[in-house]
Amino acid sequence: MSDILVTDDGPLRTIRMNRPEKKNALTLPMYETMAAAITSAATNDEIRCLLLAGAPDVFCAGNDIGDFMKMASGGGLGEPILRFLYALARCEKPIVAAVNGNAVGVGCTMLLHCDHVVAGDAAKLSTPFVALGLVPEAASSLIAPRLMGHARAFSLLVMGKPLSAQEAKEAGIVNTVVSAGETDTTALAAAQKIAALPPQGALVSRRLMRGSVEEIVKRIDEEAEAFKARLQSPDAQAAFMAFMTRKK
Ligand code: COA
Repeated sequence: MSDILVTDDGPLRTIRMNRPEKKNALTLPMYETMAAAITSAATNDEIRCLLLAGAPDVFCAGNDIGDFMKMASGGGLGEPILRFLYALARCEKPIVAAVNGNAVGVGCTMLLHCDHVVAGDAAKLSTPFVALGLVPEAASSLIAPRLMGHARAFSLLVMGKPLSAQEAKEAGIVNTVVSAGETDTTALAAAQKIAALPPQGALVSRRLMRGSVEEIVKRIDEEAEAFKARLQSPDAQAAFMAFMTRKK
């Protein structure tokens, strides 16, 4: 079974993270598949809306920490990660997300690129970047302060304070909080509603609302430079090792 499931149903493309045994931690091939699914939607006139989804108990535990360790020793940041982030930033079609359980790191910051996020009531959004010796990514340092104000963005992105589903709604990341069992169906209904709108009107409205895509891409690049340097820092190395060798 693939770690990313991409299914088209009429105007809707669902991209489902499917590595539940590792809490949907993202590996480079998973980023690659998601980037391709988002990018190819641009040239497919049939597709009018994308839906990002995870497992019933977890949305995504962020980047695979074993991969982070490999990248640190290789000195780079995996190209598929950047391709995924650029694909999200450049995506013109509306994106809906269905979030249950933990959304950690990039599992949380990818939501800042979505247009409509449905969260189960036990969802928890967190970005422990700084505690891991890292810095925020996915242009979250640009988008989160705009969305929720500097103070709340600092608490989330720098202090690593998690947001409950309700707090994420108050912060403007989440649109709707439902009981966990209703997350996927509620998100699907929203995606179908968006997909039924006149497509050009939806696309142009979205483009106008999002502002400069190049500004977002530039921030992704700036963050990636800082991130690469931090990956090799003793702080990050120690945090990764602590996670990989922790006793449960
Ligand atoms: N990278 C690699 N493996 C991960 C992972 C990650 N980001 N997140 C979870 N896993 C693995 C665990 O190592 C474990 O593997 P094992 O069964 O082979 O030991 C498995 O997934 C289950 O995770 P576990 O921690 O037992 O589940 P949990 O329900 O107790 O906790 C989380 C879930 C998401 C809270 C916890 O796994 C976690 O904090 N993960 C790391 C998140 C993180 O820091 N991501 C990077 C952000 S920049």
